[in-house]
Amino acid sequence: MNKRTFTKSLALCVALGWAGIASAQDALKIGLILPMTGPFASTGRQIDAAVRLYQQEHGDTVAGRKVQVILKDDAGVADTSRRLAQELVVNDKVDVLAGFGLTPLALAAAPIATRGKVPAVVMAAATATITEASPFIVRSGFTLPQVTEPMAQWAAREKIQRVVTLVSDYGPGIDAETSFKSRFAKDGGEVIASLRVPLANPDFAPFLQRVRDAKPDAVFVFVPSGVGSAFMKQFASRGLADAGIRLIVTGDVTDDDLLNGMGDVALGVVSSHHYSAAHDSDLNRKYVAGMRQLANLRPNFHSVGGYDGMHLIYQAAEKAGSKADGAALVEAMKGMAWESPRGPVSIDADTRDIVQNVYIRKVERQDGELYNVEFETFEAVKDPVKAAKAAS
Ligand code: PHB
Repeated sequence: MNKRTFTKSLALCVALGWAGIASAQDALKIGLILPMTGPFASTGRQIDAAVRLYQQEHGDTVAGRKVQVILKDDAGVADTSRRLAQELVVNDKVDVLAGFGLTPLALAAAPIATRGKVPAVVMAAATATITEASPFIVRSGFTLPQVTEPMAQWAAREKIQRVVTLVSDYGPGIDAETSFKSRFAKDGGEVIASLRVPLANPDFAPFLQRVRDAKPDAVFVFVPSGVGSAFMKQFASRGLADAGIRLIVTGDVTDDDLLNGMGDVALGVVSSHHYSAAHDSDLNRKYVAGMRQLANLRPNFHSVGGYDGMHLIYQAAEKAGSKADGAALVEAMKGMAWESPRGPVSIDADTRDIVQNVYIRKVERQDGELYNVEFETFEAVKDPVKAAKAAS
């Protein structure tokens, strides 16, 4: 090789090398951490499918950058979520973290988002305080107080007066219990007992017996997605409905993913939530058809957290431009508003929580399947815990 050819090939190598580095830098990398195995795998399956559907519909480039999703399974274990978040930020140099199927998993990863200055889009975990754990957290799912207060308001209006609350004993359950109690008391109702059931392998029987003995007008229940079927089975076999005790729940219990398997016991159960597969809009019909076709799934509320989380990331990348750092992406997400399969949504610029409609629904059979059929809307509901803090 003479000197000239050598110089030429060196220049070519450098150019190619730079191009390689440039395209690697240009890719918008999303580290998606989900429970793909273990007791909460349905959450992972739903969100993963929704993320893929979003990309199938909207392509895999945004603002001239290739979007690369790196999916990791934390199996619902907080230490694993933390380690995966660390590896994704340090080794893979992701631009965004996303997913987080349960509150402890989101809280474990929060310090990594802060230290790495990487936005963390919380798609599922729903304890109100999560967004306060890092200024880099933005929520695309919901909060428990947000969906619970409308249930308390509806119950009080229905002349339900004495209620026992029964919740899973961790962050979102305690949020549900606290916000139901305070809102229901404001509206003239009374919570006569509050029961907390262990999250892992719950045996509801002794708790349901206590509900029966207390003879309330209704029992208000929160259990996380994945646990609703076990609860409903035991509710049916304890004969509470026959004793005249009404069941009111957050939509986590009548999860669209599991509802058909619950059978007739679920018929007539009233719930409050931000998403139903039966939501009456063209956008939702298209979404439901897309999820069926792509993954043979009926989409549940966690899936829309994933789908809208992707929308948030794409829109923020578009708005902030190709050179945006983590802080600029979070800034771009604040105040963003769009039409979701669940209805109109926006990101509260002060709290980084999602603002959305909350619907009151009743389980009905339509075309041979069970659905949560919406019959009343509370519009543009903010997380009430933070709204109250801001007002005081
Ligand atoms: C949570 O752990 O924050 C969580 C999980 C599943 C739900 C709701 C909340 O359905």
